[in-house]
Amino acid sequence: MISRASESECFVYVTLPEEVSAVTAGKFVLAKNARGDTLGRFVYGRSYLENPKAVEIDPVELKLSTRTYETTRLNGVFGALRDAGPDYWGRLVIEKHAGKAQLGELDYLLESPDDRAGALGFGLNNTPPAPRRKFNKTIDLAKLQALADALVKDEIPDDPEAQRVQDLMLLGTSMGGARPKAVVQDDDGLWVAKFNRPDDRWNNPRVEHAMLRLARECGIATAESRIETVGDRDVLLIKRFDREKREKGYTRARMVSALTVLRTDDAPEMRQSWSYVILVEELRRIVEDARRDAHELFRRVCFNALISNLDDHPRNHAVIAKEKGWKLSPAYDLTPSVPISLERRDLAMECGDMGRYANAKNILSQHARFLLDRGEAEKIVNHMKEQVGATWYETVRASGVSEKDADTIRGAYIYPGVLPIVFSIDRRVARVHRGEPGTHVLLRSLTPFDSCSHSRRVVGHPVSLPGNEHRPMARRSRFDGHGPIAGLRDLLVARETSDGHETL
Ligand SMILES: Nc1ncnc2c1ncn2[C@@H]1O[C@H](COP(=O)(O)OP(=O)(O)OP(=O)(O)O)[C@@H](O)[C@H]1O
Ligand SMILES: [Mg+2]
Repeated sequence: MISRASESECFVYVTLPEEVSAVTAGKFVLAKNARGDTLGRFVYGRSYLENPKAVEIDPVELKLSTRTYETTRLNGVFGALRDAGPDYWGRLVIEKHAGKAQLGELDYLLESPDDRAGALGFGLNNTPPAPRRKFNKTIDLAKLQALADALVKDEIPDDPEAQRVQDLMLLGTSMGGARPKAVVQDDDGLWVAKFNRPDDRWNNPRVEHAMLRLARECGIATAESRIETVGDRDVLLIKRFDREKREKGYTRARMVSALTVLRTDDAPEMRQSWSYVILVEELRRIVEDARRDAHELFRRVCFNALISNLDDHPRNHAVIAKEKGWKLSPAYDLTPSVPISLERRDLAMECGDMGRYANAKNILSQHARFLLDRGEAEKIVNHMKEQVGATWYETVRASGVSEKDADTIRGAYIYPGVLPIVFSIDRRVARVHRGEPGTHVLLRSLTPFDSCSHSRRVVGHPVSLPGNEHRPMARRSRFDGHGPIAGLRDLLVARETSDGHETL
Protein backbone atom coordinates (compact mmCIF):
# COMPACT_ATOMS: atom_id res chain seq x y z
CA MET A 1 0.00 0.00 0.00
CA ILE A 2 1.18 3.49 -0.69
CA SER A 3 0.21 5.87 2.05
CA ARG A 4 3.03 8.28 1.68
CA ALA A 5 1.47 10.97 -0.48
CA SER A 6 2.62 13.54 2.04
CA GLU A 7 6.13 12.11 2.22
CA SER A 8 8.49 14.80 1.16
CA GLU A 9 11.95 13.39 1.52
CA CYS A 10 13.95 10.29 0.84
CA PHE A 11 17.48 9.03 0.86
CA VAL A 12 19.31 8.49 -2.39
CA TYR A 13 21.53 5.42 -2.56
CA VAL A 14 24.22 4.63 -5.09
CA THR A 15 26.10 1.45 -5.93
CA LEU A 16 29.72 2.51 -6.29
CA PRO A 17 31.93 1.21 -9.13
CA GLU A 18 32.94 -2.45 -8.70
CA GLU A 19 30.57 -2.84 -5.72
CA VAL A 20 27.39 -4.89 -5.63
CA SER A 21 25.62 -3.20 -2.75
CA ALA A 22 24.66 0.41 -2.28
CA VAL A 23 25.76 3.19 0.06
CA THR A 24 23.82 6.32 0.95
CA ALA A 25 24.85 9.20 -1.30
CA GLY A 26 22.57 11.96 -0.05
CA LYS A 27 19.14 13.22 0.76
CA PHE A 28 16.42 14.50 -1.54
CA VAL A 29 13.67 16.78 -0.23
CA LEU A 30 10.57 18.05 -2.02
CA ALA A 31 9.07 21.22 -0.58
CA LYS A 32 7.13 24.30 -1.69
CA ASN A 33 8.85 27.63 -2.13
CA ALA A 34 7.30 30.98 -1.16
CA ARG A 35 5.57 31.21 -4.57
CA GLY A 36 3.99 27.81 -4.07
CA ASP A 37 6.17 26.08 -6.67
CA THR A 38 7.50 22.65 -5.89
CA LEU A 39 11.16 22.94 -5.02
CA GLY A 40 13.56 20.00 -5.00
CA ARG A 41 16.66 19.98 -2.83
CA PHE A 42 19.50 17.53 -2.95
CA VAL A 43 22.51 17.40 -0.70
CA TYR A 44 25.32 14.82 -0.64
CA GLY A 45 25.89 13.27 2.79
CA ARG A 46 29.03 14.29 4.64
CA SER A 47 30.28 10.75 5.10
CA TYR A 48 29.66 10.05 1.41
CA LEU A 49 31.77 13.06 0.42
CA GLU A 50 34.51 11.79 2.73
CA ASN A 51 34.49 8.40 0.99
CA PRO A 52 37.46 8.42 -1.42
CA LYS A 53 35.46 6.23 -3.81
CA ALA A 54 32.52 8.67 -3.93
CA VAL A 55 31.27 9.49 -7.45
CA GLU A 56 28.88 12.15 -8.75
CA ILE A 57 25.38 10.87 -9.51
CA ASP A 58 24.93 13.36 -12.36
CA PRO A 59 27.79 14.97 -14.30
CA VAL A 60 25.78 18.07 -15.23
CA GLU A 61 23.60 19.15 -12.35
CA LEU A 62 24.79 17.29 -9.25
CA LYS A 63 28.56 17.34 -9.17
CA LEU A 64 30.25 16.24 -5.93
CA SER A 65 30.06 19.20 -3.58
CA THR A 66 28.96 20.19 -0.09
CA ARG A 67 26.41 22.68 -1.44
CA THR A 68 22.64 22.18 -1.34
CA TYR A 69 21.35 21.90 -4.89
CA GLU A 70 17.92 23.33 -5.64
CA THR A 71 15.61 23.08 -8.63
CA THR A 72 12.06 24.07 -9.49
CA ARG A 73 12.22 22.44 -12.90
CA LEU A 74 10.54 19.04 -13.49
CA ASN A 75 8.33 19.44 -10.43
CA GLY A 76 11.44 19.65 -8.32
CA VAL A 77 12.78 16.25 -9.40
CA PHE A 78 16.40 16.51 -10.55
CA GLY A 79 16.96 14.97 -13.98
CA ALA A 80 19.19 12.15 -12.68
CA LEU A 81 16.50 11.13 -10.20
CA ARG A 82 13.75 11.39 -12.82
CA ASP A 83 15.83 9.10 -15.08
CA ALA A 84 16.02 6.52 -12.30
CA GLY A 85 12.25 6.54 -11.87
CA PRO A 86 9.68 4.70 -13.93
CA ASP A 87 8.29 6.21 -17.10
CA TYR A 88 4.90 5.67 -18.78
CA TRP A 89 4.95 1.84 -18.60
CA GLY A 90 6.33 1.56 -15.08
CA ARG A 91 3.98 4.22 -13.76
CA LEU A 92 1.03 2.29 -15.13
CA VAL A 93 2.14 -0.80 -13.22
CA ILE A 94 2.82 1.09 -10.01
CA GLU A 95 -0.55 2.84 -10.15
CA LYS A 96 -2.22 -0.59 -10.34
CA HIS A 97 -0.17 -1.74 -7.42
CA ALA A 98 -1.08 1.34 -5.42
CA GLY A 99 -4.73 1.06 -6.42
CA LYS A 100 -4.90 4.71 -7.49
CA ALA A 101 -4.18 6.76 -10.55
CA GLN A 102 -2.42 9.84 -9.28
CA LEU A 103 0.68 9.48 -7.17
CA GLY A 104 3.26 11.95 -5.96
CA GLU A 105 6.66 12.05 -7.68
CA LEU A 106 8.32 10.54 -4.62
CA ASP A 107 5.86 7.64 -4.56
CA TYR A 108 6.96 6.58 -8.02
CA LEU A 109 10.59 6.60 -6.92
CA LEU A 110 9.96 4.84 -3.62
CA GLU A 111 7.51 2.25 -4.92
CA SER A 112 9.39 1.13 -8.00
CA PRO A 113 11.41 -2.03 -7.52
CA ASP A 114 15.17 -1.88 -7.40
CA ASP A 115 15.84 -2.96 -10.98
CA ARG A 116 15.89 0.57 -12.35
CA ALA A 117 18.32 1.74 -15.01
CA GLY A 118 21.54 3.08 -13.53
CA ALA A 119 23.12 2.83 -10.09
CA LEU A 120 20.68 4.79 -7.92
CA GLY A 121 18.18 3.59 -5.35
CA PHE A 122 15.70 5.35 -3.06
CA GLY A 123 14.39 4.69 0.40
CA LEU A 124 13.22 6.12 3.68
CA ASN A 125 16.02 4.66 5.82
CA ASN A 126 19.36 6.29 6.01
CA THR A 127 20.96 2.93 5.27
CA PRO A 128 20.13 1.19 2.00
CA PRO A 129 18.34 -2.16 1.92
CA ALA A 130 20.21 -5.27 0.79
CA PRO A 131 20.38 -5.48 -3.00
CA ARG A 132 17.67 -7.38 -4.75
CA ARG A 133 18.80 -10.87 -5.68
CA LYS A 134 15.66 -12.41 -7.08
CA PHE A 135 14.63 -11.62 -10.63
CA ASN A 136 12.25 -13.19 -13.05
CA LYS A 137 13.90 -15.83 -15.20
CA THR A 138 13.77 -16.06 -18.96
CA ILE A 139 11.61 -19.17 -18.49
CA ASP A 140 8.95 -16.94 -16.88
CA LEU A 141 8.53 -14.97 -20.12
CA ALA A 142 5.18 -16.57 -21.02
CA LYS A 143 3.68 -15.49 -17.70
CA LEU A 144 5.19 -12.02 -17.96
CA GLN A 145 3.89 -11.56 -21.47
CA ALA A 146 0.40 -12.59 -20.40
CA LEU A 147 0.56 -10.05 -17.55
CA ALA A 148 1.78 -7.32 -19.88
CA ASP A 149 -1.05 -8.12 -22.33
CA ALA A 150 -3.62 -7.95 -19.54
CA LEU A 151 -2.24 -4.59 -18.44
CA VAL A 152 -2.34 -3.18 -21.98
CA LYS A 153 -5.96 -4.36 -22.30
CA ASP A 154 -6.76 -2.91 -18.86
CA GLU A 155 -7.86 -6.29 -17.57
CA ILE A 156 -6.04 -6.10 -14.27
CA PRO A 157 -8.09 -5.12 -11.24
CA ASP A 158 -7.29 -1.97 -9.28
CA ASP A 159 -6.89 -4.10 -6.19
CA PRO A 160 -3.43 -3.80 -4.68
CA GLU A 161 -3.89 -7.11 -2.86
CA ALA A 162 -4.73 -9.19 -5.95
CA GLN A 163 -2.08 -11.75 -6.82
CA ARG A 164 -1.80 -10.56 -10.44
CA VAL A 165 -1.13 -7.06 -9.18
CA GLN A 166 1.53 -8.36 -6.81
CA ASP A 167 3.07 -10.32 -9.69
CA LEU A 168 3.20 -7.17 -11.79
CA MET A 169 5.74 -5.69 -9.45
CA LEU A 170 8.21 -8.33 -10.50
CA LEU A 171 7.89 -7.22 -14.10
CA GLY A 172 10.76 -4.78 -14.02
CA THR A 173 8.67 -1.71 -13.71
CA SER A 174 11.44 0.70 -12.93
CA MET A 175 12.80 0.68 -16.46
CA GLY A 176 11.72 3.70 -18.46
CA GLY A 177 9.89 3.81 -21.78
CA ALA A 178 6.33 3.35 -22.90
CA ARG A 179 6.33 -0.15 -24.41
CA PRO A 180 5.47 -3.23 -22.35
CA LYS A 181 8.61 -4.68 -20.87
CA ALA A 182 10.07 -6.69 -18.04
CA VAL A 183 13.50 -7.40 -16.59
CA VAL A 184 14.63 -11.03 -16.71
CA GLN A 185 17.70 -12.95 -15.70
CA ASP A 186 19.60 -15.85 -17.22
CA ASP A 187 23.08 -17.30 -16.67
CA ASP A 188 24.67 -14.39 -18.56
CA GLY A 189 23.03 -11.62 -16.58
CA LEU A 190 20.08 -9.27 -16.77
CA TRP A 191 18.05 -8.47 -19.86
CA VAL A 192 15.28 -6.03 -20.71
CA ALA A 193 12.47 -8.04 -22.32
CA LYS A 194 10.33 -6.04 -24.75
CA PHE A 195 7.01 -7.54 -25.80
CA ASN A 196 4.85 -7.15 -28.87
CA ARG A 197 1.65 -5.20 -28.36
CA PRO A 198 -1.48 -6.61 -30.01
CA ASP A 199 -1.91 -3.32 -31.95
CA ASP A 200 1.64 -3.25 -33.38
CA ARG A 201 1.80 -2.78 -37.14
CA TRP A 202 4.69 -5.20 -37.51
CA ASN A 203 6.66 -7.62 -35.40
CA ASN A 204 8.42 -5.00 -33.29
CA PRO A 205 10.79 -7.29 -31.37
CA ARG A 206 12.26 -8.77 -34.56
CA VAL A 207 12.45 -5.43 -36.35
CA GLU A 208 14.15 -3.75 -33.38
CA HIS A 209 16.55 -6.69 -33.11
CA ALA A 210 17.35 -6.26 -36.81
CA MET A 211 17.93 -2.51 -36.38
CA LEU A 212 20.44 -3.15 -33.62
CA ARG A 213 22.25 -5.54 -35.98
CA LEU A 214 22.10 -3.07 -38.86
CA ALA A 215 23.45 -0.32 -36.61
CA ARG A 216 26.37 -2.56 -35.61
CA GLU A 217 27.08 -3.21 -39.29
CA CYS A 218 27.26 0.58 -39.68
CA GLY A 219 29.94 0.80 -36.98
CA ILE A 220 27.63 1.89 -34.14
CA ALA A 221 28.08 0.47 -30.63
CA THR A 222 24.80 -1.12 -29.61
CA ALA A 223 23.25 -3.13 -26.84
CA GLU A 224 23.45 -6.90 -27.40
CA SER A 225 20.11 -8.51 -28.24
CA ARG A 226 18.42 -11.80 -29.04
CA ILE A 227 14.93 -13.10 -29.72
CA GLU A 228 13.05 -15.61 -27.57
CA THR A 229 9.85 -17.08 -28.94
CA VAL A 230 7.08 -17.67 -26.44
CA GLY A 231 4.15 -19.57 -27.95
CA ASP A 232 3.59 -17.83 -31.26
CA ARG A 233 4.93 -14.49 -30.06
CA ASP A 234 8.44 -13.08 -30.22
CA VAL A 235 10.09 -11.26 -27.34
CA LEU A 236 13.17 -9.08 -27.74
CA LEU A 237 15.80 -9.53 -25.06
CA ILE A 238 18.31 -6.70 -24.75
CA LYS A 239 21.28 -7.26 -22.51
CA ARG A 240 21.45 -4.60 -19.82
CA PHE A 241 24.60 -2.57 -20.29
CA ASP A 242 24.23 -0.96 -16.86
CA ARG A 243 24.60 -4.27 -14.97
CA GLU A 244 27.44 -6.77 -14.87
CA LYS A 245 27.10 -10.14 -13.28
CA ARG A 246 29.76 -10.99 -10.70
CA GLU A 247 30.02 -13.89 -8.31
CA LYS A 248 28.65 -11.84 -5.43
CA GLY A 249 25.90 -9.98 -7.29
CA TYR A 250 25.55 -7.27 -9.91
CA THR A 251 27.75 -4.21 -10.38
CA ARG A 252 25.83 -1.18 -11.62
CA ALA A 253 26.81 1.65 -13.94
CA ARG A 254 25.41 5.12 -13.32
CA MET A 255 23.25 6.33 -16.17
CA VAL A 256 21.62 9.65 -17.07
CA SER A 257 19.55 10.32 -20.16
CA ALA A 258 20.19 12.98 -22.77
CA LEU A 259 17.10 14.74 -21.38
CA THR A 260 19.12 15.35 -18.24
CA VAL A 261 22.31 16.23 -20.11
CA LEU A 262 20.28 18.82 -22.05
CA ARG A 263 18.57 19.97 -18.81
CA THR A 264 15.23 19.44 -20.48
CA ASP A 265 12.03 17.49 -20.23
CA ASP A 266 9.37 15.56 -22.16
CA ALA A 267 6.88 18.45 -22.05
CA PRO A 268 5.89 19.79 -25.50
CA GLU A 269 7.06 23.31 -24.64
CA MET A 270 10.53 21.96 -23.89
CA ARG A 271 10.95 20.28 -27.24
CA GLN A 272 12.74 23.19 -28.79
CA SER A 273 15.69 22.33 -26.57
CA TRP A 274 15.88 18.78 -27.91
CA SER A 275 18.97 19.06 -30.05
CA TYR A 276 21.82 16.82 -31.18
CA VAL A 277 23.84 19.93 -31.89
CA ILE A 278 23.60 21.05 -28.27
CA LEU A 279 23.87 17.49 -26.99
CA VAL A 280 27.21 16.97 -28.69
CA GLU A 281 28.54 20.19 -27.13
CA GLU A 282 27.42 19.00 -23.69
CA LEU A 283 28.81 15.52 -24.27
CA ARG A 284 32.20 16.95 -25.16
CA ARG A 285 32.30 18.58 -21.74
CA ILE A 286 31.21 15.48 -19.82
CA VAL A 287 32.70 12.39 -21.41
CA GLU A 288 36.19 10.95 -21.12
CA ASP A 289 36.82 10.72 -24.84
CA ALA A 290 35.07 13.65 -26.51
CA ARG A 291 36.23 12.82 -30.03
CA ARG A 292 35.16 9.20 -29.93
CA ASP A 293 31.72 9.97 -28.54
CA ALA A 294 31.09 12.99 -30.79
CA HIS A 295 31.83 10.84 -33.86
CA GLU A 296 29.67 8.05 -32.47
CA LEU A 297 26.76 10.44 -31.93
CA PHE A 298 27.15 11.72 -35.50
CA ARG A 299 26.90 8.14 -36.79
CA ARG A 300 23.72 7.64 -34.75
CA VAL A 301 22.13 10.80 -36.16
CA CYS A 302 22.88 9.61 -39.71
CA PHE A 303 21.61 6.14 -38.93
CA ASN A 304 18.37 7.44 -37.44
CA ALA A 305 17.77 9.55 -40.54
CA LEU A 306 18.56 6.64 -42.88
CA ILE A 307 16.16 4.23 -41.16
CA SER A 308 13.55 6.91 -40.34
CA ASN A 309 13.91 6.34 -36.61
CA LEU A 310 11.90 9.44 -35.83
CA ASP A 311 11.31 8.46 -32.21
CA ASP A 312 14.92 9.30 -31.33
CA HIS A 313 13.91 11.52 -28.40
CA PRO A 314 16.45 12.38 -25.70
CA ARG A 315 15.35 9.53 -23.41
CA ASN A 316 16.57 7.23 -26.13
CA HIS A 317 20.15 8.42 -25.64
CA ALA A 318 22.14 8.19 -22.43
CA VAL A 319 25.56 8.54 -20.89
CA ILE A 320 26.85 5.90 -18.49
CA ALA A 321 29.70 5.58 -16.02
CA LYS A 322 31.01 2.16 -15.00
CA GLU A 323 33.98 3.73 -13.24
CA LYS A 324 34.44 7.43 -12.47
CA GLY A 325 34.32 8.69 -16.05
CA TRP A 326 31.27 9.03 -18.32
CA LYS A 327 30.71 7.92 -21.89
CA LEU A 328 27.90 7.63 -24.41
CA SER A 329 25.91 4.44 -23.69
CA PRO A 330 25.47 1.77 -26.36
CA ALA A 331 22.61 2.61 -28.73
CA TYR A 332 19.15 1.19 -27.90
CA ASP A 333 15.49 1.59 -28.91
CA LEU A 334 16.12 1.84 -32.66
CA THR A 335 12.84 1.56 -34.54
CA PRO A 336 11.97 2.49 -38.12
CA SER A 337 8.80 4.42 -38.91
CA VAL A 338 6.98 4.81 -42.19
CA PRO A 339 5.33 8.20 -42.49
CA ILE A 340 3.78 8.97 -45.85
CA SER A 341 6.03 11.88 -46.77
CA LEU A 342 8.91 10.94 -49.07
CA GLU A 343 10.25 14.46 -49.13
CA ARG A 344 10.54 15.59 -45.59
CA ARG A 345 10.79 13.67 -42.35
CA ASP A 346 11.87 15.14 -39.06
CA LEU A 347 13.94 13.51 -36.36
CA ALA A 348 12.76 14.12 -32.80
CA MET A 349 15.82 16.29 -32.16
CA GLU A 350 17.30 19.20 -34.07
CA CYS A 351 20.24 17.95 -36.14
CA GLY A 352 21.49 20.93 -38.18
CA ASP A 353 20.90 24.40 -39.61
CA MET A 354 17.55 23.31 -41.02
CA GLY A 355 16.25 22.11 -37.67
CA ARG A 356 15.03 18.53 -37.31
CA TYR A 357 14.97 17.78 -41.05
CA ALA A 358 16.34 14.26 -41.53
CA ASN A 359 18.42 15.18 -44.55
CA ALA A 360 22.11 14.73 -45.35
CA LYS A 361 22.71 18.40 -46.14
CA ASN A 362 21.19 19.36 -42.80
CA ILE A 363 23.12 16.75 -40.82
CA LEU A 364 26.38 17.74 -42.52
CA SER A 365 25.80 21.44 -41.79
CA GLN A 366 27.01 21.12 -38.19
CA HIS A 367 29.86 18.65 -38.77
CA ALA A 368 32.41 20.74 -36.87
CA ARG A 369 30.47 20.46 -33.62
CA PHE A 370 30.85 16.71 -33.94
CA LEU A 371 34.61 17.25 -34.30
CA LEU A 372 34.60 16.14 -37.93
CA ASP A 373 35.86 18.02 -40.96
CA ARG A 374 33.53 18.19 -43.95
CA GLY A 375 35.27 15.36 -45.83
CA GLU A 376 35.20 13.01 -42.84
CA ALA A 377 31.54 13.76 -42.20
CA GLU A 378 30.61 13.17 -45.86
CA LYS A 379 32.50 9.90 -45.82
CA ILE A 380 30.47 8.70 -42.82
CA VAL A 381 27.18 9.71 -44.45
CA ASN A 382 28.09 8.02 -47.74
CA HIS A 383 29.39 4.87 -46.12
CA MET A 384 26.27 4.51 -43.98
CA LYS A 385 23.97 5.22 -46.84
CA GLU A 386 25.63 2.49 -48.87
CA GLN A 387 25.62 0.06 -45.97
CA VAL A 388 21.96 0.64 -45.08
CA GLY A 389 20.90 0.64 -48.73
CA ALA A 390 22.77 -2.57 -49.51
CA THR A 391 21.98 -4.59 -46.40
CA TRP A 392 18.82 -3.45 -44.62
CA TYR A 393 16.59 -5.96 -46.37
CA GLU A 394 18.96 -8.86 -45.92
CA THR A 395 19.45 -7.95 -42.26
CA VAL A 396 15.76 -7.74 -41.43
CA ARG A 397 15.04 -11.01 -43.21
CA ALA A 398 18.00 -12.72 -41.54
CA SER A 399 16.58 -11.53 -38.21
CA GLY A 400 13.38 -13.44 -38.96
CA VAL A 401 11.25 -10.47 -40.06
CA SER A 402 8.57 -11.78 -42.44
CA GLU A 403 8.49 -10.73 -46.09
CA LYS A 404 5.20 -8.94 -45.40
CA ASP A 405 6.65 -6.95 -42.48
CA ALA A 406 9.80 -6.17 -44.48
CA ASP A 407 7.57 -4.73 -47.21
CA THR A 408 5.60 -2.71 -44.66
CA ILE A 409 8.73 -1.04 -43.34
CA ARG A 410 10.46 -0.70 -46.74
CA GLY A 411 9.58 2.99 -46.98
CA ALA A 412 11.62 3.74 -43.85
CA TYR A 413 14.98 3.08 -45.46
CA ILE A 414 16.89 5.84 -47.17
CA TYR A 415 13.75 7.85 -47.63
CA PRO A 416 14.15 10.09 -50.65
CA GLY A 417 14.37 13.39 -48.74
CA VAL A 418 17.38 12.19 -46.77
CA LEU A 419 19.73 12.57 -49.73
CA PRO A 420 21.24 15.80 -50.97
CA ILE A 421 19.99 16.97 -54.37
CA VAL A 422 22.21 19.00 -56.67
CA PHE A 423 21.00 19.87 -60.15
CA SER A 424 20.43 22.69 -62.55
CA ILE A 425 17.37 23.57 -64.52
CA ASP A 426 16.12 25.74 -67.33
CA ARG A 427 12.71 25.96 -68.90
CA ARG A 428 13.01 22.67 -70.74
CA VAL A 429 15.80 20.63 -69.26
CA ALA A 430 16.46 19.43 -65.76
CA ARG A 431 19.80 17.79 -65.17
CA VAL A 432 20.94 16.08 -62.02
CA HIS A 433 24.66 16.77 -61.55
CA ARG A 434 25.23 14.84 -58.38
CA GLY A 435 22.17 12.72 -58.03
CA GLU A 436 22.99 9.24 -56.92
CA PRO A 437 20.90 6.15 -57.47
CA GLY A 438 18.01 6.56 -55.13
CA THR A 439 17.87 10.34 -55.35
CA HIS A 440 14.41 11.74 -55.68
CA VAL A 441 13.67 15.19 -57.02
CA LEU A 442 10.35 16.85 -56.69
CA LEU A 443 9.43 18.75 -59.80
CA ARG A 444 6.50 21.08 -59.67
CA SER A 445 5.01 22.23 -62.90
CA LEU A 446 3.51 25.70 -62.67
CA THR A 447 1.46 24.96 -65.73
CA PRO A 448 0.13 21.44 -65.78
CA PHE A 449 1.60 19.29 -68.51
CA ASP A 450 0.59 16.14 -70.29
CA SER A 451 -1.49 13.86 -68.18
CA CYS A 452 -0.76 15.55 -64.88
CA SER A 453 -3.78 16.50 -62.91
CA HIS A 454 -5.36 19.65 -64.24
CA SER A 455 -7.32 20.17 -61.12
CA ARG A 456 -4.41 21.73 -59.28
CA ARG A 457 -2.16 24.45 -60.56
CA VAL A 458 0.88 23.10 -58.76
CA VAL A 459 1.47 19.42 -59.35
CA GLY A 460 3.86 17.36 -57.26
CA HIS A 461 5.78 15.04 -59.52
CA PRO A 462 8.51 12.95 -57.95
CA VAL A 463 11.06 11.41 -60.29
CA SER A 464 14.08 9.26 -59.63
CA LEU A 465 17.30 8.00 -61.07
CA PRO A 466 17.53 4.36 -62.06
CA GLY A 467 18.53 1.86 -59.41
CA ASN A 468 16.18 3.09 -56.77
CA GLU A 469 13.97 0.58 -55.07
CA HIS A 470 11.44 3.16 -53.89
CA ARG A 471 10.52 4.06 -57.44
CA PRO A 472 7.75 6.59 -57.32
CA MET A 473 4.41 5.79 -58.72
CA ALA A 474 4.14 8.44 -61.36
CA ARG A 475 5.68 9.07 -64.73
CA ARG A 476 9.21 7.75 -64.33
CA SER A 477 9.46 7.34 -68.05
CA ARG A 478 9.41 11.09 -68.48
CA PHE A 479 12.64 11.77 -66.69
CA ASP A 480 15.62 9.58 -65.94
CA GLY A 481 17.63 12.28 -64.27
CA HIS A 482 19.82 13.05 -67.26
CA GLY A 483 17.85 13.96 -70.31
CA PRO A 484 15.35 16.61 -71.29
CA ILE A 485 11.87 16.40 -69.89
CA ALA A 486 9.44 16.19 -72.73
CA GLY A 487 6.56 18.57 -72.87
CA LEU A 488 7.63 20.56 -69.87
CA ARG A 489 6.90 24.22 -69.41
CA ASP A 490 7.70 26.60 -66.56
CA LEU A 491 9.23 24.18 -64.15
CA LEU A 492 9.74 24.95 -60.53
CA VAL A 493 11.86 22.56 -58.50
CA ALA A 494 10.98 22.72 -54.90
CA ARG A 495 10.98 20.86 -51.67
CA GLU A 496 8.06 21.11 -49.31
CA THR A 497 8.70 22.79 -45.99
CA SER A 498 6.48 23.29 -43.00
CA ASP A 499 5.54 26.78 -44.18
CA GLY A 500 5.14 26.29 -47.90
CA HIS A 501 7.93 25.25 -50.23
CA GLU A 502 11.58 26.03 -50.62
CA THR A 503 12.77 26.53 -54.18
CA LEU A 504 15.95 24.66 -55.01
N1 LIG B 1 20.16 -2.49 -22.70
C1 LIG B 1 19.82 -1.61 -21.77
N2 LIG B 1 20.54 -1.51 -20.62
C2 LIG B 1 20.18 -0.63 -19.68
N3 LIG B 1 19.14 0.21 -19.77
C3 LIG B 1 18.40 0.16 -20.88
C4 LIG B 1 18.69 -0.75 -21.94
N4 LIG B 1 17.77 -0.57 -22.92
C5 LIG B 1 16.95 0.39 -22.48
N5 LIG B 1 17.31 0.84 -21.27
C6 LIG B 1 16.64 1.86 -20.45
O1 LIG B 1 15.27 1.53 -20.45
C7 LIG B 1 14.50 2.60 -21.00
C8 LIG B 1 13.39 2.01 -21.82
O2 LIG B 1 13.89 1.24 -22.90
P1 LIG B 1 13.42 1.54 -24.39
O3 LIG B 1 13.75 2.93 -24.75
O4 LIG B 1 14.02 0.46 -25.24
O5 LIG B 1 11.86 1.34 -24.23
P2 LIG B 1 10.59 1.89 -25.02
O6 LIG B 1 9.44 1.56 -24.17
O7 LIG B 1 10.63 1.37 -26.41
O8 LIG B 1 10.83 3.43 -25.06
P3 LIG B 1 9.96 4.55 -25.82
O9 LIG B 1 9.02 5.07 -24.80
O10 LIG B 1 11.05 5.49 -26.19
O11 LIG B 1 9.33 3.89 -27.01
C9 LIG B 1 15.47 3.44 -21.78
O12 LIG B 1 15.06 4.78 -21.83
C10 LIG B 1 16.76 3.26 -21.00
O13 LIG B 1 16.81 4.13 -19.89
MG1 LIG C 1 12.75 4.48 -25.42
